Amino acid sequence: MDIFKEIKKEHDEFKKMAKKINATTKRAIKTRTNSFAKLKLELTAHHQAEEEVLVPALKENKATRKMGLEIIEEHRILDKLMAELQSLAVDDETWIVKFKVFSEIMEKHTDEEENEISKKAHGEFKQKKLDKLGDQFEEEDKKIAKQLKNKKQVK
Ligand SMILES: [Fe+2]
Ligand SMILES: [Fe+2]
Repeated sequence: MDIFKEIKKEHDEFKKMAKKINATTKRAIKTRTNSFAKLKLELTAHHQAEEEVLVPALKENKATRKMGLEIIEEHRILDKLMAELQSLAVDDETWIVKFKVFSEIMEKHTDEEENEISKKAHGEFKQKKLDKLGDQFEEEDKKIAKQLKNKKQVK
């Protein structure tokens, strides 16, 4: 499947999860903790899979190289915010404020991948290549998520 279709499928899930968390009150400690842990793990795997499959392809092409580099920078910001959220108590009043900022940046980032970057890549790459990248992305994403889950169980 086209890599941008694969990516969008996951983005839709992330947006749903973020919406659910944003709607919680500070009394929903369990929901916040569990839903955030799930989102963090899956988004981390998604970022890593994008950086291993999509970003190298974008960087190889002069017309898309900068977009590839921008993806990495935005992932760093999102990862940093997730680490801050992780170290803060979920019922702290700043937690949900920080989460809202995080989800707004996440939304902007995913929209860019789905629109500008997808459009440019479709103009530059053959469909066959985008389909092949999609298969690689799916495989890589599953593998990394599984590794992260196993790592969590060991701790
Ligand atoms: Fe991304
Ligand atoms: Fe993405």
